[in-house]
Amino acid sequence: MDYTVLQNQLKALLQGEKYWLANLANASALIFNEMRDLNWAGFYLLKDDELVLGPFQGKPACIRIALGSGVCGTAAKRRETIIVPDVSKFAGHIVCDVASKSELVVPLLTKQGEVLGVLDLDSPLYDRFNKRDAEGLVAMMNILVSECDWESK
Ligand code: SME
Repeated sequence: MDYTVLQNQLKALLQGEKYWLANLANASALIFNEMRDLNWAGFYLLKDDELVLGPFQGKPACIRIALGSGVCGTAAKRRETIIVPDVSKFAGHIVCDVASKSELVVPLLTKQGEVLGVLDLDSPLYDRFNKRDAEGLVAMMNILVSECDWESK
């Protein structure tokens, strides 16, 4: 994946628009359609100490995830990007779609380090995500977070 191209596509979509809900919806559609071998791409947003399903592409998914639960809740709690090569080997992984074999979760962090939510990508292939994907997507999420107005979240 050429993450420079993907970042430029994201910047073009964000041009002149600050509304977080619309921007997250377009970001999930961009990532889902441009990256190969994904079966789910979307966001969970932190609300009252739990993650709640946000804009996504893919099959319907679980709605609420406690902080510290599953890959998403763990990434949000630790404020760390997590690559899971084989979801069956991640203790506490939450199965939303049995087709998912590997997963990448990137926390959405403000410049002050506050967690807004997470980006979750699922793949039907084992070991789909590497360090370069993680770095590219962290950069994408930094752009997304800084270009949105989060007041109304
Ligand atoms: N597998 C995730 C749950 C979200 S779905 O994959 C869309 C997890 O363990 O946090």
